[in-house]
Amino acid sequence: MKRVLSGIQPTSESFHLGNYLGAVKQWVDLQKGHETYYAIVDLHALTGDVDPKLLRARTLASAAQLIAVGIDTEKSALFVQSHLPEHNQLGWIMECVASFGEASRMTQFKDKSSKGGADGARVGLFTYPMLQAADILLYQADLVPVGEDQRQHIEITRDLANRFNTRYGQVFTLPDAYILKEGAKIYDLQEPTNKMSKSASSASGVIELMDPPDVNLKKFKSAVTDTGKEVVFDEKNKPGISNLLTIHSAISGVKIKELENEFAGKGYGDFKMAVAEVVVEHLKPIREKALGLLEDETELIKILHDGASRAKVTANKTLTQTYKALGLVL
Ligand code: TYM
Repeated sequence: MKRVLSGIQPTSESFHLGNYLGAVKQWVDLQKGHETYYAIVDLHALTGDVDPKLLRARTLASAAQLIAVGIDTEKSALFVQSHLPEHNQLGWIMECVASFGEASRMTQFKDKSSKGGADGARVGLFTYPMLQAADILLYQADLVPVGEDQRQHIEITRDLANRFNTRYGQVFTLPDAYILKEGAKIYDLQEPTNKMSKSASSASGVIELMDPPDVNLKKFKSAVTDTGKEVVFDEKNKPGISNLLTIHSAISGVKIKELENEFAGKGYGDFKMAVAEVVVEHLKPIREKALGLLEDETELIKILHDGASRAKVTANKTLTQTYKALGLVL
């Protein structure tokens, strides 16, 4: 069985629709026929400012949402990254394999560090991709389901794995990114040329899984549309409508071409209402289930510990092989 690993940062109380459609929905689908490992990557979340109370709450909220969308914790090892020191241990080794130059070329590091000034950027932000490589390589993952913005991180992971294998002997599986053709990049409803993001300047274009239905309905109603009035997919000239078509199609399963036919001759208003209804109806039971799970923190933490102990078996095996290959005395 092919192995799958992916991760999400607990940097918000709620996942947004981009996280869900770009990545997490595929996590659920890939449980069928694959050995799956899913991590809440809390150590990665330390590269920004940390509010300890919020970090704890967001970690548990992430677990609840993952179970609510359909991660089956009997099938998948669902765990918190910091529960497994193996991630840091292999992370250090990856830092010793990576060059300063290639780490400097990571676009996410360049973007994030330029926003707050490179001097004040955390060293952890710079070494972030090496910890991510460790997350993936520890489980010998074949596939890594992510959104488009993670492509470069999977590429550096492959490069590091390949370099290690060439120098020290075959240890790591080279992972492939699993990125959808449609939906790998969901855009902000108010600024449809920017990706939907936790760090958006305004929340009005970001659909949160944990928001009440009426809040999300309102956001769809006020979504920015484009000039003209035809509901057609044209990313260049109609980014707003194209994004809404992508969202509808990803959730309803109806092909974009069919949606164009269905809404031919109808206005943008009707179409926005239809998208709103499809999404809101889909998210309602997810939110309710997550809220229910959050009422029993002890049980949630137990599930995460159980996931960590299963993940540990695989992680430990890889770490031992890595240490042996490097000549570390065991
Ligand atoms: P994170 O926490 O920022 O996002 C989680 C997942 O959501 C996807 N995503 C999107 N997809 C489509 N449209 C969007 N607007 C959108 N915004 C976010 C991301 O691509 C991601 O798949 N570095 C990772 C976390 C990580 C990881 C890993 C991922 C750490 N270790 C190992 C995979 C494997 C991150 O910051 O994702």
